Amino acid sequence: LKTPVVILNFKTYLESSGKKALDLAKALESAGEESGIAMVAVPQAIDVYRIKNKTNIPVLAQHIDAISAGGHTGSNLFESFLASGVDGTLLNHSECRMTLADIAEIVKKTKEAELISCVCTNNIETSMAAATLAPDYVAVEPPELIGTGIPVSQAEPEVVEGSVSKVKAINKDVKVLCGAGISTGDDMAAAIELGAEGVLLASGIIKAESPKDALLDLVSKI
Ligand code: G3P
Repeated sequence: LKTPVVILNFKTYLESSGKKALDLAKALESAGEESGIAMVAVPQAIDVYRIKNKTNIPVLAQHIDAISAGGHTGSNLFESFLASGVDGTLLNHSECRMTLADIAEIVKKTKEAELISCVCTNNIETSMAAATLAPDYVAVEPPELIGTGIPVSQAEPEVVEGSVSKVKAINKDVKVLCGAGISTGDDMAAAIELGAEGVLLASGIIKAESPKDALLDLVSKI
């Protein structure tokens, strides 16, 4: 993916589920085309196939379980996402935390399948731990700012800067994103200024009156 990148986590908002997930993905697609910035959708599992079929944007899963095929009712199987055409996955989001061993297992599977992996972290220390697994992206999000509209790039810049410098010292190929409370052009510009190579965000765009306009505003100052 081109840098900087905008990764939109659809979470489980009604505004980003089912038919509306497709509308939102199309808004991402057209904002991406207009701005020339890479925009990625992270819908719920059930909406992945629908979006892959009807758009040309990269799609990541929100979570994949470290299980093998067989008796695991209710789980998210890596091979099924692969078959749905997914481009990669988020892992260890603060709303869906995993053990380090399970993260390592799925990062390995994504590498073997040449898919994108983005490991979410909650502070500088976990960003360092994630970096040792060599995912494509580490996305640091202080949990207390998620969904608040208070941007991490302005409220806790040291967490972003610290994650960038520590992650790069471990593996310079791992790209660092930041998230939590990001919604405006100023928020994203501040994130880039701190060394982030993109943002991971949700509510500021999903809840906007026009998600496409909000996306264009987001990338207007970089
Ligand atoms: O995964 C992105 C997320 O946790 C940030 O959420 O709503 O603060 O943009 P939000």
